[in-house]
Amino acid sequence: MKEDIKQIIYSEEVIKEKVDELGKRITEDFSGKNPIVIGVLKGANVFLSDLIRKINIPLIVDFIDVSSYGLSTETSGVVKINKDLDFSIEDKDILIVEDIIDSGLTLEYLLKNLKSRNPKTIRICSLLDKPERRRVDIKVDYIGFQIPDEFIVGYGIDYAEKYRNLPYIASLKEEVYR
Ligand code: IMP
Ligand code: MG
Repeated sequence: MKEDIKQIIYSEEVIKEKVDELGKRITEDFSGKNPIVIGVLKGANVFLSDLIRKINIPLIVDFIDVSSYGLSTETSGVVKINKDLDFSIEDKDILIVEDIIDSGLTLEYLLKNLKSRNPKTIRICSLLDKPERRRVDIKVDYIGFQIPDEFIVGYGIDYAEKYRNLPYIASLKEEVYR
């Protein structure tokens, strides 16, 4: 695995500090509420697991699994729900937790789908954001790091289902995915 890594972009320590900071902000903003925190599988799983332990209010965790990427590195724009939520979100405060927002097409689809279920509020938290790549206009409430247009892996984020278990976020050598 390590031989495929080009460069470590965010170390375990740096990620931890950022997750602490996001958890504090979310705790303040959602004070008095009981949100449903929705992790977008599989990429957001590691981030969500760390983040919820830094959010100091009662909450419910749910997951939705959508796919758009297949095994390539470019979004297809076609989104499929592989696993839907377990809970109704009607009249609830929702926090969507994503790993990375790239074109924004996945999130645009998700937002439209979840809004049709009539939640009270929807906010979005993404660990990573690639603003240069955005193809649709989406307001993201909490962003960990803005990164340039480079393919990254680790801390839950994969390439062809690999590298999710790296504890840091790193760029891949181009020969690995080209
Ligand atoms: P979007 O629909 O283009 O915004 O793509 C969002 C999804 O694509 C993310 O939730 C990731 O699963 C995946 N993705 C986007 N950029 C990367 C990357 O650099 N590495 C791995 N997965 C990525
Ligand atoms: Mg994802």
